[in-house]
Amino acid sequence: MSGNPTAGLRERAIAVLRANDRGGYTVPAAGLYPFQWNWDSCLVALGWACFDEARAWREIETLFAAQWPDGMVPHIVFHRDDPGYFPGPGVWATGREPASSGITQPPVAASCVRWMLERARDRTTALAAARRLFPKLLAWHAWFHSARDPEGRGFVVTVHPWETGMDNSPAWDAPLAAVAPPPDLAPYERRDLAHVDAAQRPTRAEYDRYMTLVQLFRELAYDSAEMVARSPFLVVDPATNAILLRADRDLAALAEILGERAALPRIRAWIARAETALPPLLADPGSGLWQAFDLRAGRRLGVRTHAGFLAFLAGLGETRLAATLDRWADATRYALSSVPAGDPAFDRRRYWRGPVWPVANFLIGRGTGESGHVRLAARLRRDTAALVARGGFREYFDPLDGTGLGGSGFGWTAAVWLAWVDQPERDRGSDEAPDPLK
Ligand code: DGY
Repeated sequence: MSGNPTAGLRERAIAVLRANDRGGYTVPAAGLYPFQWNWDSCLVALGWACFDEARAWREIETLFAAQWPDGMVPHIVFHRDDPGYFPGPGVWATGREPASSGITQPPVAASCVRWMLERARDRTTALAAARRLFPKLLAWHAWFHSARDPEGRGFVVTVHPWETGMDNSPAWDAPLAAVAPPPDLAPYERRDLAHVDAAQRPTRAEYDRYMTLVQLFRELAYDSAEMVARSPFLVVDPATNAILLRADRDLAALAEILGERAALPRIRAWIARAETALPPLLADPGSGLWQAFDLRAGRRLGVRTHAGFLAFLAGLGETRLAATLDRWADATRYALSSVPAGDPAFDRRRYWRGPVWPVANFLIGRGTGESGHVRLAARLRRDTAALVARGGFREYFDPLDGTGLGGSGFGWTAAVWLAWVDQPERDRGSDEAPDPLK
């Protein structure tokens, strides 16, 4: 083979988003994920923004049209039913219009809106869209800081692994093991295995527990307070908390840009509370890596996953965490494995238990770059480029040999290509600052 291996990938990435466009929203991957997913959609909008800004804004506005009256933004919006997915709207039975699930997902929206607004070529359209979205973003964040932090402790809780987006992360093994499927668990048939090899997906035992929690939340009529009080799965997820803190910072920046200054004291209070609460609760003293905390068991779980590096995105990554990231990246051919190679939980091809996720590389890459670790950011970007050039826009990749895994024609992988890998240096959000480790 000769020539540039990345030639034509921009056009192919655009083609992926167009193929996954269902009119106002983008499915993560045809077949496997046939609806609108919350954080997929916001990150996919960054990709759309690189070639069709109006369509990018519409993506986020369509998601927020499904916001619940209490401010929650659901993790899936079922604009129309699809028999190829389980659990669909009939199982969730939230009674909402449009139909949606009854749990949420990491709140990347405010960060995406800020990113899109600051880079907009069509500033008038962007400002109008950001103005419409601002109160909705504020309401969602307020919901997190009240419904999911009822005691005002500075961290938000998560009631289902699907809320973290990292469904079968080994961090959830212990808290999920404490979820006992009831004898009357409704029989179900998985559909994901019709699309992806079972060895690359969560196990049956995990699905039984995912469904046990869904059944419980349905019985509780999706009452937030009841869900937090009664869920046997109750964790402090480093990814959700880091992303929320970052999103609060971006929301404050939006409030300044949009002249929404009345909201600032409240947002600043959320930020200050999180900055105080998160590091002592989540950071492993030796490595600086943020690790999930199990509130039912009352302990930090001590499980190492790439989610812990999102501390950088929150602006709280310590210098020793950069050294940890370097070592972790050195252990595989392609960075960054979701679980460190050599860890007993490492499973190179199974979803969130080992594979490299371009979207995680993007979020961690931005965080490290903005924190001054430019070399690390460049490394994550380079490996992401190599994986996509080799295997296409796959959902995730084997960190040892680069094999593409999971869904194909994957929306947020294409978006990460457009918005990060294929951007000039100045737009990557990862340049200029000197790298303290260099
Ligand atoms: C799935 O179906 O695998 C999703 O991750 C749930 O949101």
